Amino acid sequence: MANLLTMKSLTNDSIMKLIGRAADFENGERIELGGTVANLFFEPSTRTKMSFEMAEHKLGLTSLPFETSFSSVLKGETLYDTVKTLEAIGVDGVVIRHPEEEYYRQLEGIGVAVINGGDGSGQHPTQSLLDLYTIWQEFGRFENLHVTIAGDIAHSRVAKSNAAALAQLGAKVSFVCPPEWSGDFESSDRLDDYIEETDVLMLLRVQHERHEGGELLAKEGYHESYGLTVERESKMKDSAIIMHPAPINRDVEIADSLVECERSRIFKQMTNGVFIRMAVLEYALKGRD
Ligand code: CP
Repeated sequence: MANLLTMKSLTNDSIMKLIGRAADFENGERIELGGTVANLFFEPSTRTKMSFEMAEHKLGLTSLPFETSFSSVLKGETLYDTVKTLEAIGVDGVVIRHPEEEYYRQLEGIGVAVINGGDGSGQHPTQSLLDLYTIWQEFGRFENLHVTIAGDIAHSRVAKSNAAALAQLGAKVSFVCPPEWSGDFESSDRLDDYIEETDVLMLLRVQHERHEGGELLAKEGYHESYGLTVERESKMKDSAIIMHPAPINRDVEIADSLVECERSRIFKQMTNGVFIRMAVLEYALKGRD
């Protein structure tokens, strides 16, 4: 049994092994893991929650539904006591999305595998792994690829997870965003300076729900300055791809007409999420590296 809490815990070798297992599953390998997993989502999710459920189904695992709004969390039960309860009733692993950064520190010592489905603005390791798998499928390498991450970087657990992993794997990573959204990263506010040389343009959602009272750029203003307009897309390399973890604000981060364009891998990322999550569940439940 193993946890997957942050990308920082994975070596390049471990990342490549998980990518290799995702490829095995995509190529038709089937295994029966057996066991029970509970999916605890304390924040909304469509892709992560549903693709974990699909991955669990494909691996022969039993998924226990956990509805936070009908659980004893509403009576004040702590996260520790909730997960300890699941351990006591025989659950083997938990997938948790929670608004608090590093919520998993509260769970030290509990004997179930913990897979982080996103902790506030902290990390989103399975999204990062599916992004890496998508890039690897396209280019077969990470070394010397130029990845530009554009958008709401300060609030993005996807940016934080991917920035470190991509750099560790040898990619060049640039950040583009409004100056006040750069967080700990050195960024530019000029997407036009990067668009022609970028191999992977990774767009990030503007996270309206995490901007407390701050002034958000008007929709049109953001799209013109920082979004992928039709004109910018026309300047991209022939081989370059567009990614976005979704959900998408159409005509904000990306022009509506480009969401499913030829170089977009946005829906392929979602497909890959199932195979990566199968690999992660196998790793977590069998301790396979
Ligand atoms: N990309 C992602 O995490 O999507 P959900 O919030 O729908 O899970």
